[in-house]
Amino acid sequence: MTPTTQRHVQTTAVHAGERIRREGFRTTSTPIYNTATFLYDTAEALDAAFEADPSFVYARHGNPTIAALETALATLEGGVGTVAYACASGMAALHAAILATGVAPGERIVASRDLYGTTAALLKNLFLGQGYDVRFVDLGDHAAVDRALGEGDAQVLLAETVSNPLLQVADLPMLAALAHAHGAQLVVDATFTPPTLLHPLALGADLVIHSTTKYLSGHGDVLGGVILAGPQHDATLRSVTRLVGGAAGPQEAWLTLRGLKTLPLRFERQCANATKIAAWLAAHPAIEAVHFPGLPGHPDHALAARLFGPAASAGEAPAFGAMLSFAIRDANRARVFRFLDRLELCLPATSLGDLYTLVAYPAMASHRELTPKERARVGIGDGLLRLSAGIEHVDDILADLAGALGDE
Ligand SMILES: Cc1ncc(COP(=O)(O)O)c(C=O)c1O
Repeated sequence: MTPTTQRHVQTTAVHAGERIRREGFRTTSTPIYNTATFLYDTAEALDAAFEADPSFVYARHGNPTIAALETALATLEGGVGTVAYACASGMAALHAAILATGVAPGERIVASRDLYGTTAALLKNLFLGQGYDVRFVDLGDHAAVDRALGEGDAQVLLAETVSNPLLQVADLPMLAALAHAHGAQLVVDATFTPPTLLHPLALGADLVIHSTTKYLSGHGDVLGGVILAGPQHDATLRSVTRLVGGAAGPQEAWLTLRGLKTLPLRFERQCANATKIAAWLAAHPAIEAVHFPGLPGHPDHALAARLFGPAASAGEAPAFGAMLSFAIRDANRARVFRFLDRLELCLPATSLGDLYTLVAYPAMASHRELTPKERARVGIGDGLLRLSAGIEHVDDILADLAGALGDE
């Protein structure tokens, strides 16, 4: 806009400084485009922008900061023509991904019995209530998965790569084969296994989601989600995400993009710390059980090594993720609360994937809605805690856990 003295101060106040053209340089870091709409020199150019990919016309359709994040996420997942759609939260991504499969009321969604609580609630309260045929199965029981897919008009199989809080690993190639044999699509929540560890699309998944609130942003300061898929899903995802409107905001996209730059460094340290913490806990007299796929006694150790192994650099042992859970021997709720209250370094926060070590109590948080009997049936006792390893020095984490476990 040309500076002008003829305009009123009210007009100048709202326009001054904006829309300045800067030519001859690019910014090192993508700026935060805090704008809901985009202006073009001609109506012709605006018309073309509606059809462009990415399309910068209106922020629910696209925004350069969000597009930069989507490019980074699609590139990290890999695969030919992989597309990424950034969303306002992991739940927004999951909801849009399920809708993008085209599953309709009356058709079946087969889902893991051990899903993240809010995902299970989404299926029970929203999808089931709207007439979808939702079935929950043990994903480790492949015959049961096959039956559940075969009985109804199954369109979707929904799995998490690693279950919460018992860290069971899903055999994605097997689940993809089962889903596809029944004409269903495999939707994978890979929040526990960032693309530095696993590429579910390459293992047969049709649509993948992450809560980027966790490892991908990594600093516990931003909510977000992403859907990743092959190019055949691009048009549907583009349409569904625009219609349901759970688009990421530019500030959040920028924070996630910034966090993403240190993902490999953070995750390497987190996995190494988790391995040491699991071994230390397994040898502690106050600990009854440790669930960590990296421990040779874990029922999915061999499967985890097979699936996660290819991500390791040549000559390196595979990483097994940075999540683990453990049961304090003979502990009730009061004993667990004393443990949580004594922690001085590890944070008793109900999230995961942050650079801080986080400890969560499933009976109080993710599995709060279940009765103690129901929890016991799925292997979640009153003494079970979940730990998300951070990037602190492992000796400090162990000292904190030792202090909190005490001599009781
Ligand atoms: C496995 C998993 N999926 C999805 C979500 C939902 O993500 P968000 O909180 O970003 O909506 C979470 C949140 O904890 C999660 O743990």
